[in-house]
Amino acid sequence: MTIRACTIGYPLGHSLSRVIHTHWFAQYGIDGAYESHPIEPGSFEHEAARLAASYNGFSVTLPYKEKIIPFCMTLDSVAASIGAVNMVAVGRDGAMRGHNTDAYGFAENLRRNAPDLALRDSPALVLGAGGASRAVLHALKTGGVPDLVIANRSRDRADALAAHFGCRAVDWHDAVAAMRETRLLVNTTSLGMQGQPPLDLSLDALPPSATVCDIVYKPLMTPLLCAARDRGLATVTGIGMLLHQAVPAFEAWTGIRPAVDAALETLVLGQAS
Ligand code: ATR
Repeated sequence: MTIRACTIGYPLGHSLSRVIHTHWFAQYGIDGAYESHPIEPGSFEHEAARLAASYNGFSVTLPYKEKIIPFCMTLDSVAASIGAVNMVAVGRDGAMRGHNTDAYGFAENLRRNAPDLALRDSPALVLGAGGASRAVLHALKTGGVPDLVIANRSRDRADALAAHFGCRAVDWHDAVAAMRETRLLVNTTSLGMQGQPPLDLSLDALPPSATVCDIVYKPLMTPLLCAARDRGLATVTGIGMLLHQAVPAFEAWTGIRPAVDAALETLVLGQAS
């Protein structure tokens, strides 16, 4: 039986998820096909109801991570808490089950690439309050971070997330002051991404033991990570979150838990740059 999977979203550029899953299909000898399935916003309702008939599962990206929820018969607890679905598995019964693997991807990236970081002892500062921030906050909260602080340009969005996740919001211009107590700084804003302005915050207040993580992976070393490295701080790039969020997806669709290895990372980095 051919495993059929895709990414839904709009617009869809070059799909790194396709690169990842196609690599695993070949690695594990699975007869699989992964495609990009752009859905124009005007036809989303019509198209979403037909996906279960065509696919064993699919990845969900912007702007449909929330819009797909009413089409899912069940949501896993993480998707329910975050309020977003990034992966759907279609059961034998044809029912769509919504999952969120972004929080897992973020946590696993940290666990692998900052092995000395003990979340339970690490006050954290998260920059940004978009969809990606929700997954990061969920991961940090469930990881036991003792003081979780969120700073966002629009204060009302930070307040809403702070109330939802039981953390603390500060004004954007107070982010630098908040760094004094921070052991983990995470950028979830789009700043630093190719084509965007850099995230221009001084890291001088961060203690030398701090780790800086960016979820932007294009470029791999963002200006923020370069500044952190120049200060001798530990850094974690964003590519691991992308790779690891795909692991539970592949497992849900095929029954095989795939490995994130150096060959895959090199392949995806080559395609991302
Ligand atoms: P995503 O769902 O990918 O996280 P998003 O919802 O568009 O994307 O969120 C982008 C984040 O980057 C937001 O936190 C946004 O801040 P606002 O909530 O104030 O819009 C942040 N961001 C984007 N451009 C920014 C800028 N120039 N300065 C500071 N923050 C910025």
